[in-house]
Amino acid sequence: MAFSLQSLASPAIAPSILTADLGRLNHEIESAEQAGVDLIHLDVMDGSFVPNISFGPLVVNAVRQSTSLPLDVHLMIEQPERYIGEFAEAGADVITIHSEATLHTHRAIQQIRSHGCQAGIAINPGTPVSAIHELIPLVDLVLVMTVNPGFGGQAFLPEMLNKILMARYAIDAKDTDVRIEVDGGINADTISDARESGADMFVCGSSLFNPEHPISESLQLLRKAIA
Ligand code: DX5
Ligand code: ZN
Repeated sequence: MAFSLQSLASPAIAPSILTADLGRLNHEIESAEQAGVDLIHLDVMDGSFVPNISFGPLVVNAVRQSTSLPLDVHLMIEQPERYIGEFAEAGADVITIHSEATLHTHRAIQQIRSHGCQAGIAINPGTPVSAIHELIPLVDLVLVMTVNPGFGGQAFLPEMLNKILMARYAIDAKDTDVRIEVDGGINADTISDARESGADMFVCGSSLFNPEHPISESLQLLRKAIA
């Protein structure tokens, strides 16, 4: 039975492995799963669309082997259509591309769906919601970046709250049950504002994977803030 975002808990919390201890990735994934996260967020970066290089399909496949949680793959890469098949093969349940990364977003979303994956469209802080209006009926998820993409541990951009609201209005206006995911600087202080603005999926990197607190404690704090 293929994974559906509509069946995922709301709100849902997704740890980003970008800020995990990659030398102990299996352990980090297991701790996240035991703590009760809803899905795993994998930030793929190519050093061209964003000024950082992270990992590719091989790591997605390794994570696939170590958990049955849904894999939420965020492609921060140029011309993502070149690799959608490989990430689907590697075990992605959700594949999100950036509206700024290809001229043919509509076709790339169709390509994601043709591989049986849930489709997401992401917009950078400088990109308006209007840029993806035509795609809302086609996607399962809109990802509103709340930092400039490329690195974990950055500060949340509060001016994105209004954009989350705009995305919620645009989705409700099309009467579709598309999820809104936010990514970047989400922690116990910022998650409730993002929730109130209409987000229902939360990517958490440094607020979940940090050496000071066990992940179960950090997750509890986050869940309490949006209860
Ligand atoms: C930015 C990355 C980060 C990461 C989350 O490109 O996508 O947002 O997932 O990192 P934190 O939660 O530490 O901002
Ligand atoms: Zn991400």
